[in-house]
Amino acid sequence: MARKHQAPKGTFDVLPADEAARAAVHEAAARRLGAAGYGRIETPVFEDTGLFERGVGESTDIVRKEMFTFEDQGGRSITLRPEGTAPICRAYVEHGMHRLPQPVKLWYRGPFFRYERPQEGRFRQFNQIGAEAIGAGSAMVDAELIILLAGTFADLGIPDAELLLSSLGSPAARAGYRGELSDYLREHEGDLSDDVRDRIDANPMRAFDSDHAGTRAVMEGAPQMLDRLAGEDAEHFAEVRSLLDDAGLAYTLDGSLVRGLDYYNRTVFEFTCDRLGAQSGLGGGGRYDGLVELLGGPPTPAVGWAAGIERILLALETPPDPEPIDVFVVAGEDRARAFALVGELREAGVAADLDLAGRSFKGQMKQADRSRAAHAVILEPDGTAKLRDMSSGDQREIEPAAIVAALAAGAR
Ligand code: HAM
Repeated sequence: MARKHQAPKGTFDVLPADEAARAAVHEAAARRLGAAGYGRIETPVFEDTGLFERGVGESTDIVRKEMFTFEDQGGRSITLRPEGTAPICRAYVEHGMHRLPQPVKLWYRGPFFRYERPQEGRFRQFNQIGAEAIGAGSAMVDAELIILLAGTFADLGIPDAELLLSSLGSPAARAGYRGELSDYLREHEGDLSDDVRDRIDANPMRAFDSDHAGTRAVMEGAPQMLDRLAGEDAEHFAEVRSLLDDAGLAYTLDGSLVRGLDYYNRTVFEFTCDRLGAQSGLGGGGRYDGLVELLGGPPTPAVGWAAGIERILLALETPPDPEPIDVFVVAGEDRARAFALVGELREAGVAADLDLAGRSFKGQMKQADRSRAAHAVILEPDGTAKLRDMSSGDQREIEPAAIVAALAAGAR
């Protein structure tokens, strides 16, 4: 026998039975975000490697070890996108979107790629829904986006996602704090993991994310940026909090919340769900006021989030069932007649199907049941027809010429 192939490690196939749940996530995002003035954007699944090196940050785990990077036939370094924010800022600059009324509100969905150790809820190709509002610094935008994500989770049947909220302040304020944190880490150097010790200067904030026991113990007593917010940073954060309070959205302040991307300043947030186990992050984001300028655009404040579709599906208590069809046509003898009728029904907008595997009459009736169709049409050998209501089992004669019109009226 020929060698069997498997989907690459960390990837998966989406089979028809999984599709309804995914479509529900897409629809919930489209509805919530569309109604709030966000337009859908699509960017390529690959970009120049330099975009992520600059945008996401050289010292992040994503850039250091998780990117799928390769050289194309033209000798360019290409990377499968590990996230969507840097590409969208690239598109904002490339299309001169700063000339549009601000903020420009965009949403997206699609596949992303990170070379991570696969486990439940963590893949090498995964999907995100995401939203970005570019061109406004108001705390109202931060609050709007957080409320939209909470609403999307609620629409989908995840009412218990927990919101963690923090602020990283401005880059200038953070620079002072980072020095303080580096000093603190150096004092406890002996207890830290090698990885954290190596990055004391490059990225000390990542120590908050470590799962190394010694490092975690050290971080319990570490100074937090949240306690050092001052001036406009403190005002901005207070306003975000008060808008969330007014909207009745509960949150937990978490000064140890650092996100794995370098572009953030001020507000950062994450939604978690206990049902997810180790990979509890459903979605997250924050403000990134410096990114557009870093990528060659004018100084432009911005804020956004992304949520993992596979994580959302894991958090759903009852995933939606696939859409059933309207009618299954059962042929007594004349299969060509059944085939023609199904064609006419589909043209009339009725979701119709029939047996294509030569099943017996009994087998076709079973198939009709399995299809979860609302109705079956039974074409009798003598040319008459019956319409059966599959849930009640009630069956009545129907004029063959009237079948399409009767079902089309019901399907509408
Ligand atoms: P992120 O936190 O890296 O943020 O990813 C967002 C979400 O994507 C995570 O909360 C998680 O649900 C999902 N996710 C990430 N990695 C994986 C994986 N390997 N397998 C399955 N799901 C995963 C960003 O990507 C930022 N671009 C969000 C953002 C937008 N910030 C501002 N605007």
